[in-house]
Amino acid sequence: MTNPLRSAADTRLPRVAGPCAIVLFGVTGDLARKKVMPAIYDLAARGLLPPGFALVGFARRDWEDQDFAQTVREAVAEHSRTGFDPATWERLAEGIRFVAGDASDPEAYRRLGDAISTLDAERGTGGNHAFYLSIPPSVFPTVLTQLQESGLAEPPHPQAWRRVVIEKPFGHDLASAEELDQLVDDVFPPESVFRIDHYLGKETVQNILAVRFANAMFEPLWNGNFVDNIQITMAEDIGIGGRAGYYDGIGAARDVMQNHLLQLLALTAMEEPLTFSAADVRAEKTKALAAVRLPADIDAHTSRGQYAAGWQGGLPVAGFLEEEGISPDSTTETYAAARFDVDTRRWAGVPFYLRTGKRLGRRVTEVAVVFKRAPHSPFPERSVSELSNNALVFRIQPDEGITVRFGSKVPDTQSIEVRDVTMDFQYGESFADTSPEAYERLILDVLLGDPPLFPDRSEVELSWSIIDPMLERWAEQGRPEEYASGGWGPQSAYRMIERDGRMWRRP
Ligand code: BG6
Repeated sequence: MTNPLRSAADTRLPRVAGPCAIVLFGVTGDLARKKVMPAIYDLAARGLLPPGFALVGFARRDWEDQDFAQTVREAVAEHSRTGFDPATWERLAEGIRFVAGDASDPEAYRRLGDAISTLDAERGTGGNHAFYLSIPPSVFPTVLTQLQESGLAEPPHPQAWRRVVIEKPFGHDLASAEELDQLVDDVFPPESVFRIDHYLGKETVQNILAVRFANAMFEPLWNGNFVDNIQITMAEDIGIGGRAGYYDGIGAARDVMQNHLLQLLALTAMEEPLTFSAADVRAEKTKALAAVRLPADIDAHTSRGQYAAGWQGGLPVAGFLEEEGISPDSTTETYAAARFDVDTRRWAGVPFYLRTGKRLGRRVTEVAVVFKRAPHSPFPERSVSELSNNALVFRIQPDEGITVRFGSKVPDTQSIEVRDVTMDFQYGESFADTSPEAYERLILDVLLGDPPLFPDRSEVELSWSIIDPMLERWAEQGRPEEYASGGWGPQSAYRMIERDGRMWRRP
């Protein structure tokens, strides 16, 4: 019998990257500093990078190698998961290089080529280089074209590889995503393109498939005969912080619903893959996404909001329109919710409610499978008045784990009284090791050439085609509804779900 959890590469073998280097574009960005550089260091600390590993920074800065190394060092000291260890740092620092240059200057790419050939000779990186584009999407075309024209996108010999890592946003609608995909495809073959959706690197997200398909007890209930609705929530308590430049004009739906939330939906809705190979997993996710439909009455089934000034954690916070760098008449939404239907036999009649927002009550991401009521209750109505629908909740973060909610008899009551109780699985209690950061897993997978956790072109484009009609409708509507900071979103989000006779869970 096939075991769907077996990866194409046997997961019991030590997953240590072979000789290689990462060339990082966008070295001064937030993402590079907070996530990418610390994750590379943490991989080094875990012994998962090859001895001659090299990290090359490329940017328009008047820097020497040591200036870049200092930037990496500061990022690591502040954000690494495993903590700063001088010996690990020394090892990593030996392979740090910097190439100064403008992204559009062919001469800079010639220097970059020289630098990586020197690394191949000096540190044995074997011609294997991953170009990590942690840059604004407007610069993608320039860098991709230059990588092609300079010949750097081509492996220097048949055993070597060249890969490209792309960070979202992959376009701002279907048309622009297709354009970008075409460009990437012209430069790199599909197996060399790694699109990062960091949610897929989270252990708890991967666990959705493990729980569904490694066990006997969940999958029989995983359909419209037993499930009433599914609620996927990604709530953040933070505002947009210093990211006005990125966020204004993008908004919650493009920022996280098009990617993270629809990926969570796909993992929850998809059929069992034949194996865990990239091709099989992507095939099932693609089928699930192809079946997703936004209801025709978009106004009734979606909600958008903008956070207003208020209080959070006992402190006053600014409203979105008062944030630095945001224009006072911005129509960008910081909250988005929508109902989606999945047109398959398994999910006929089961709405998937997705919501996300900044400055909500607390930081929590979860996938809640809400079951139907028991078909018959032998108990008098008053005995079960405090019983809600059974639910299975994947707690993606924080407090990672799974909760099952069901009814149980209240002890010592004369007549039977049934009330909600929960059964909990917590990662922290069941497993000794802490989970790696999503970026550690994903960067290692890039270096190993292991693609199951990276969405492919069709997934990205399908996701845009799902939300495009909603974005177009919203674009006609001016300013989104205000919601109080520290609350759970705009009134229209409550009306949207109540119209269906349901309620949002309070995560
Ligand atoms: C990013 C979004 O993809 O995910 C951010 O661009 C968001 O706006 C972030 O804050 C949240 O990630 P996480 O892992 O903290 O849930």
